[in-house]
Amino acid sequence: MNVLVIGNGGREHAILLALKKSKRIEKLYCMKGNAGTAEIAENVDVDYMDIAAVISYATAHPEIDYYVVTPDDPLAIGLVDALEGIGKRCFGPRKAAAQIEASKAFAKQLMKKYKIPTAESETFSDYEQALAYVRKKGAPIVLKADGLALGKGVLVCETLEQAEAGLKEIMLDKAFGSAGNKVVIEEFLRGLKYIPGEEVSVLAFTDGKAIVPMITSCDHKRAHDGDKGLNTGGMGTFSPCPFWNKKLEKQVLKKIMIPTVKAMNKEGRKFKGCLYFGLMRTDKGMKVVEYNSRFGDPETQVVLPMLKTDLLDIFEAVTEEKLSDIKIEWEDGACVCVVLASGGYPESYKKGKEITIGDTDGVTLVHAGTAIKDGKLVTNGGRVMGVVARGKDVEKAREKAYSAVKNIEWENMQYRTDIGIKYREG
Ligand code: AMP
Ligand code: GLY
Repeated sequence: MNVLVIGNGGREHAILLALKKSKRIEKLYCMKGNAGTAEIAENVDVDYMDIAAVISYATAHPEIDYYVVTPDDPLAIGLVDALEGIGKRCFGPRKAAAQIEASKAFAKQLMKKYKIPTAESETFSDYEQALAYVRKKGAPIVLKADGLALGKGVLVCETLEQAEAGLKEIMLDKAFGSAGNKVVIEEFLRGLKYIPGEEVSVLAFTDGKAIVPMITSCDHKRAHDGDKGLNTGGMGTFSPCPFWNKKLEKQVLKKIMIPTVKAMNKEGRKFKGCLYFGLMRTDKGMKVVEYNSRFGDPETQVVLPMLKTDLLDIFEAVTEEKLSDIKIEWEDGACVCVVLASGGYPESYKKGKEITIGDTDGVTLVHAGTAIKDGKLVTNGGRVMGVVARGKDVEKAREKAYSAVKNIEWENMQYRTDIGIKYREG
């Protein structure tokens, strides 16, 4: 089969690397891709946010059998609906189902209606009313722009001053554009043992009937060591999550995952694809922090290398709604991804810096913001690449990843040195 993956990031490179292992793949394509995807796929220079352009490309290329739509923004504008509309087979939810990520107000309302455990919240489109609510509740408090904001539209406010300033930023100054037309104001969740709370990312395959969680992972969202600095798209991940176990998985399936699939069906928004559950372990059990309508980035980079089952078989089973017919198996051990970013990320940073790579044997370099310019590998984004290593346990994988990081450089490279050392018990 010829398969085209839509997206430019590390997640897409990781998906392509996993698909490449399938015996049934003849040729891979990536729209638009990066320097890493170009090594294993044909990069297609079409803007995937331009639905008409994608449809005209797809019509002109009948040799492509299957489309994988991964980023949140094309899912939110209905790229899957459009491709299916011209008879193409796809992996990824339709627009109505992608709302579970594209609108936090929708997601919160869904959880409230179907009694899925999450932080208490109220949604406002009026600034004065929102401000009065914030003042009534006090700090700490969490503000979330309703719409998509590159993972940056969430403000965890420790003081009332911060919350008031944040509310103004989102609703009046429109720091996240129209994503801030509505704001969700949410109770601050505390972890059971650690501050900030224990979070786990659980990605799950679902065909709208069955839901199968993948192995778990933990993200590091803040820019700097010790969870300091601004929220980013994710500075590194490790798998599996240390506090996860079979008992917890059973509980989460029963109280959160299956109810979510059923709720989406009841709302007439059947979700087919990868549903991402961002969960927090609190003293009142596991709660949903966020849903994403897609694979996480950089979670995918540590989850898919551990997958034993053919990823294309799983994708097609989801499309055909036959997920319960296949057995999904995972490798033992652990995996770590250290993200190397451009200095200044997630604020302003420079592109076009030449990247030099020395000995990186035994790890996989998963590209994100990279490009080839005048025959040289250069930086082309905030998150530039992930260094992915597997090991017997997280500690071994972590050592391997960081010893390769030492051999990669460019001017002003930035990364966290503490990926993989959170939530250690004892
Ligand atoms: P999100 O983009 O919704 O995942 O939020 C980004 C990060 O903000 C999360 O990973 C948490 O660390 C933090 N966060 C979001 N909501 C809450 C909450 N209600 N309580 C505490 N922290 C939160
Ligand atoms: N790493 C978090 C996300 O993909 O949204």
